[in-house]
Amino acid sequence: MNILAFESSCDETAVAVVRDGRTVLSDVVLSQADMHAIYGGVVPEIASRKHVEAIAGLADAALEQAGLTRQDIDAVAVTYAPGLIGAVLVGVSFAKSAAYALGVPLIPVHHIRGHIAANYLAFPELEPPFLALAISGGNTLIVDVRDYTDMEILGATRDDAAGECFDKAARVLGLPYPGGKPMDQLAQQSQGGKYDLPRAQVSGSDLDMSFSGLKTAVVNLVHNAQQKGEELDKSALARDFTMAVSDELIPRMALALQRTGRTVVAAAGGVAANSIIRTRLQEACSQAGARLYLPPLRLCGDNGAMIGAQAYYEYLAGHTAPLDLNAYATMDLDQQIQK
Ligand code: KG4
Repeated sequence: MNILAFESSCDETAVAVVRDGRTVLSDVVLSQADMHAIYGGVVPEIASRKHVEAIAGLADAALEQAGLTRQDIDAVAVTYAPGLIGAVLVGVSFAKSAAYALGVPLIPVHHIRGHIAANYLAFPELEPPFLALAISGGNTLIVDVRDYTDMEILGATRDDAAGECFDKAARVLGLPYPGGKPMDQLAQQSQGGKYDLPRAQVSGSDLDMSFSGLKTAVVNLVHNAQQKGEELDKSALARDFTMAVSDELIPRMALALQRTGRTVVAAAGGVAANSIIRTRLQEACSQAGARLYLPPLRLCGDNGAMIGAQAYYEYLAGHTAPLDLNAYATMDLDQQIQK
């Protein structure tokens, strides 16, 4: 089954063709990051307009790269939640038109389910059940993936996402947007241990997380130093910051493993590209006797292939949508739209 998949929830317009949920026939991604970098973050209106400009050309490019024609497409899939509403709407509108024109089913895919499914593309042997650590620019979740379309959120951030925290900390340090990768490169140049940053405990659930206090602490620390004219050790700060983020994530992942008795972990989302977090996750999983799947860096960020992968399993579960499908800015990944 060849699925033409669209992703436009933030600042990447992405289209892919995926066969039977596991084989990527094409995967084209157009990042708008350079455009948003001028403003230090994603400007939603600009994102929507750039998606409109790019999406039709990328759909043709994805078909061409796959060596297929429109007649070879068996279904159209699209990210319909969560994301910047105007941006998601562009993908949903285009996908609905494509499904209608081609006379094929339309499959709505939750963005984070897609991130988790990126692992199916990289690791053919991976099958549920497993635990997923989904860490991206907009979401931070510990998920029990009971089956391909049956998931339970075990823990989540109460405020900012880990990626957002990286981007804000990078911004105050004068690094370009998106800040995760430059922070990672900076952190690798230091052993850290210089800056005392907070680790949050949230009440009510020991698997829930919080990043807003850490973000504020970094912003205050940098502003304080600037006002006093003190020199900052930016690489030490980047390292200490990354350790604080990973202290929020990794012990909770280990606790979730212990509680559920699962023996497999899959990482997902842009922040899963972080070198320190990857190493520390590997250490924690080895200690817990769990097998860890870390997707290659190109599959951590937003892409269309991950949407095509998850779409196959949504289709098998009967999760197709009528042509009045809407886009949603927020939606839990264990929620399913009503047909
Ligand atoms: O998954 P993604 O591409 O988009 C969303 O679905 O949100 O994640 C983007 C986020 C950004 O916040 C970016 O700064 C972060 O992932 N990121 C990283 C790294 N590479 C990207 N964060 C930490 N370390 C990295 N190496």
